[in-house]
Amino acid sequence: MGELERLRELSRENKSLKSVIEKSISIIQGCSSLEDTRDARIRILGRKGMITAVFEGISKMPEDERPAAGRAGNEFRTLVTALLEEKEKEIEASIHMESRELEGIDITLPGRCPPLGKKHILSKVIDDVVEIFISLGYSVETGPEVELDYYNFEALNTPAYHPARSLQDTFYVKRSDPEREEPDDILLRTHTSPVQIRVMESRKPPLYVISPGKAYRKDEIDATHTAMFFQVEGFAVDRGITMAQLKGTLEVFARKLFGSKRTVRLRPHFFPFTEPSAEVDVSCFACDGAGCSICKHSGWLEILGCGMIDPNVFSHVGYDPEEFSGFAFGMGIERIAMMKYGIEDMRYFYDDNIKFLSRF
Ligand code: DAH
Repeated sequence: MGELERLRELSRENKSLKSVIEKSISIIQGCSSLEDTRDARIRILGRKGMITAVFEGISKMPEDERPAAGRAGNEFRTLVTALLEEKEKEIEASIHMESRELEGIDITLPGRCPPLGKKHILSKVIDDVVEIFISLGYSVETGPEVELDYYNFEALNTPAYHPARSLQDTFYVKRSDPEREEPDDILLRTHTSPVQIRVMESRKPPLYVISPGKAYRKDEIDATHTAMFFQVEGFAVDRGITMAQLKGTLEVFARKLFGSKRTVRLRPHFFPFTEPSAEVDVSCFACDGAGCSICKHSGWLEILGCGMIDPNVFSHVGYDPEEFSGFAFGMGIERIAMMKYGIEDMRYFYDDNIKFLSRF
């Protein structure tokens, strides 16, 4: 029970204290400054105050009534003292708060959380993809974004007349040797496939490698093209590697990324550096293959390009195609992120729109 309630109870129990108690309560409740409470303390508890009058009254009572009245008087003093202290604390707190408000700080407001940064959605998808292949025993390798024509095209069996090599499609930087007659041969890599050559050149099979990174193309920028984008390249070279292993690997990958019920299909395609080559579709994760707007009613979503590494590629790195075989694949990360998260425009990834970016 609080002091105030107990005081009221006390005044009901002791008719003789009723008016003193009521007066004390109203004096204390009327205090609005520390001066007020100091005055109140003198008026109620001081030597010439109300409490003194109470005890004088008690001393004039018949002897048998005095002990009970004395106890009530003492309790009155204790309660009033406590009530005054409480009032003082209340006044002090409000003074403190007022001065804080004057400084422009309202300490009663809840704290503000500073905006926290987080991983970009593309970084997350790259990490997810790479993580899956690490769990299959692949190691991560990276290569330079400013690359030589040799690694980007030549060693990947991409002939000089291939359209990708035209000035319209590739960002050329300059000639490695200013004296040479031939056209520029330093470029921004147009895919992550040159990492295959760099790794094969420097190591011997068995190789199980995954390589994320940026690639650049002189594409017209629109909802599905940006001049810079991310790819993840993967390849395996060993004795006896088959296309069945390629398909099995990609199926495990698709299930880990898109859900355990997914299947994959390979459609024949052409890439200069693989033979045979295929494009890979995963059964639509949204409709389970029944057909919906995400898969454009086909039931399938294209996720990557792949194939068996062409013997001509092996010849550039000195591997004997009779001894070793291998598969390779490459995927566009933006495309996969767009499908997985239902994003309609690739440019959103590169706009500094916090509202979009913080959705993921
Ligand atoms: N480099 C290809 C591209 O950018 C993707 C690709 C296809 C990579 C087949 C591969 C592959 O390693 O085997 O479109």
